[in-house]
Amino acid sequence: MTPTWAQLVYLACAVGFILALKGLAGPRTARAGNLIGAGAAVVAVAMPFLYLDLDHVPLILAAIAVGSLVGVLGAQRVQMTQMPQMVALFNGVGGGAAALVALMELEHMGAATPGFDLAATGFTVAVGAVSFAGSAITFAKLQELMTSRPVVFPGLPVLFGLALVAAVVLAVLVVRDPSVPLGVALALVGLLLGVLLVLPVGGADVPIVISLLNAFTGLTVAAGGYVLGNVVLLVAGTLVGASGTFLTLLMARAMGRSVTSILFGALRGGSTLGAGVASDRPVRSGGPEDVAIALGYAERVIVVPGYGLAVAQAQHTLREIVDLLAERGVRVDYAIHPVAGRMPGHMNVLLAEAQVPYEQLVEMGDINPEFRHTDVVLVVGANDVVNPAARTTPSAPIYGMPILDVDQARQVVFLKRSMRPGFAGIDNELLFDPRTTLLFGDAKESLAKLLAALKAL
Ligand code: TAP
Repeated sequence: MTPTWAQLVYLACAVGFILALKGLAGPRTARAGNLIGAGAAVVAVAMPFLYLDLDHVPLILAAIAVGSLVGVLGAQRVQMTQMPQMVALFNGVGGGAAALVALMELEHMGAATPGFDLAATGFTVAVGAVSFAGSAITFAKLQELMTSRPVVFPGLPVLFGLALVAAVVLAVLVVRDPSVPLGVALALVGLLLGVLLVLPVGGADVPIVISLLNAFTGLTVAAGGYVLGNVVLLVAGTLVGASGTFLTLLMARAMGRSVTSILFGALRGGSTLGAGVASDRPVRSGGPEDVAIALGYAERVIVVPGYGLAVAQAQHTLREIVDLLAERGVRVDYAIHPVAGRMPGHMNVLLAEAQVPYEQLVEMGDINPEFRHTDVVLVVGANDVVNPAARTTPSAPIYGMPILDVDQARQVVFLKRSMRPGFAGIDNELLFDPRTTLLFGDAKESLAKLLAALKAL
């Protein structure tokens, strides 16, 4: 029995997790929310040492030390653009850990164990394994350890179906006659299912699948919490499951796709990625001085930040330019597309790092009517989120994705290094529009030259 004082502490931790989520919902409170969540997690992890008579304490402490070291080093070293694969990795490890714990619990279970407990254990083993293997494949795709294109082979749907049936049969057997070997077989089938689930997903859909697997891990941990009779795991898992599900749906909606088309689109033959080749059609390119004149003498400018801004780490220079333009009396806002960059809120975090005031960040729905009254749009390292093919070309992988209506402005300036396409791998007609100027080069260098040219105006 957990003593009352410990139950109260666990309750406080659960409340901490809820407050953390609430804090993370807004840029001003996100840092505090993160700290509250981390603090609650530390307390929850420390609790069993305080009231349980644990075996293998040195081993547990060693495992915690190794895990903490890897986590701290990983978090310190990761580039912000690599955050999705980091999330995939941590999420997969969480699912795998829950599956291992459930496997060990099976050893203490028998015919007398209530059926619901056994069902929850089987669920934890199977779904935890799916989450672990699926997350490992998404990590490999995003880290470019393997192709990020959909991988399909003949018979994949049949194999997937068979693995699903095998998982259900094994789960039923675990409930009827629990044993570790059966659990291991279920985990192996779960691993296969995870691989087969994620292989056909490609391109822009991979980060959405990470969020889906995150929801799976949440449910696994919640079921594990039920099995272990641990309320804080139950609450934390449920919160992760619910928030992962919402995030998946929100991202899918922001990209104009359904979750089923993301998971099974490639099986039906529709690729989620274009050819990805650089176009050799003629475009109009300009120098920093030309762009400085266009910006410096405009009345209304909108900046569209994208993934390339994050890669170049040019957010500070960009802010200096915007400040300078504001000093000259130009009205400037940043247009934030919900899936600009590679993770939810990527641009908000990036620009907050450069102390850009939140009031200058305007969401897609609010800024879209403004483009038609705008003199110049400065697109910095963004491509897919301004590509009109999302409106006009049904065969395009991004067709149906709501975009920023940049093409309605009087003039558009793109800062990019080459004619290579964006993440979706398709051409952007806006680059070839007579109103468009391209300033080629790394965004940080181009923006530095632009800043110098603006100062010289
Ligand atoms: P992208 O369409 O990927 O375009 C990025 C652009 O940045 C490219 O045109 C690239 O051109 C340029 N670039 C890269 N490095 C650069 C550098 N150092 N300096 C200057 N330019 C650089 O980005 P986006 O418009 O932000 O769109 C995001 C994409 O990610 C969408 O397809 C979206 O669906 C997908 N996605 C996002 C999320 C979330 S939640 N954010 C989740 C899943 C998928 P060059 O190579 O020619 O420089």
